[in-house]
Amino acid sequence: MSLNAGDKVIFKIFRYDPAKDKAPYFKDYEVTIEKKGMMVLDALNQIKWHIDGSLSFRRSCREGVCGSDGMNINGMNTTSCMAHVDDYNSNVLIIKPLPGLPVIKDLVCDFVDFFDKYYAVKPYLIEKTPPPGTERLQSIEDRAKLDGLYECILCGCCSSSCPSYWADRDYLGPSALLNATRFVLDTRDEGSDERLDTVNNIHGVWRCHTILNCIHACPKELNPTKAIASLQKEILKRTY
Ligand code: FES
Repeated sequence: MSLNAGDKVIFKIFRYDPAKDKAPYFKDYEVTIEKKGMMVLDALNQIKWHIDGSLSFRRSCREGVCGSDGMNINGMNTTSCMAHVDDYNSNVLIIKPLPGLPVIKDLVCDFVDFFDKYYAVKPYLIEKTPPPGTERLQSIEDRAKLDGLYECILCGCCSSSCPSYWADRDYLGPSALLNATRFVLDTRDEGSDERLDTVNNIHGVWRCHTILNCIHACPKELNPTKAIASLQKEILKRTY
C-alpha cells in the first residue's frame, strides 16, 4: 500500500506509566503523512511535539547509528529511524516496546541487564604482549573478517526478539555474543581464551537454538546466529 503526502495513518501506541497507570493500554493517534517515505520516528516526533507531549520514547541520531530507538512495529523489532511508515503496507501501525525487556515508561525499556551482558564479554581489544612501538597492524583480509560484526549499534532488537533470551534471564543473548565474536575474530586481540570461557556454557553460545528471529530483527542486516556459530567453532577448535 503506497502512502502519499496528506494521507492519514493511525498509530496505536503502547502506553504505560507505572507512576499512575494500573495497567498498560493502547492509545490511538492520527498522523498526517508529511511526505512519501516518511520515517516512523518522524511520525512519533509529530505525535510527541504536536499531539501528546506525555509520550515517551528514546531517540537521538535519527540516522541508524545510536541504536536508542529500538521498538516493535507491527510485530517486528527495528529502530524507528530505519523504518518507513509505508514499509508496513497498512494505514494502521501498532507500536510496542521491545518484547522481553522491563518497561520503564511507554516505549522506553530498561537496558541495564542487556548492557551488563554486553560488558561481560569484554567488548574491547585485550593486550597481553608489549606494544610493538607502532600501531598493531592488520592485513586487509584479517580486517575483512570483522565485516558484519563491528556494525552492531546495540539497539537490542536481536536479543529482545529471541525466545531463548526471554526464557533464560541469564542467557547472554545474540547481541552480546555477536560482539564477543567481533573481538574473538580480531587478529590483534590477545584475550579471546578468557572471552570464550565466558561464553562456553549453557547461558552462552550453547543456549542458541537457531530460531533465527535475531537475523530478521536486526535493522543493520547483521547475522547474530552466524556469529554464534563462529564462536562455537572457535571453542571446538581450541578444545579439540
Ligand atoms: Fe539513533 Fe535511530 S535514533 S538509531
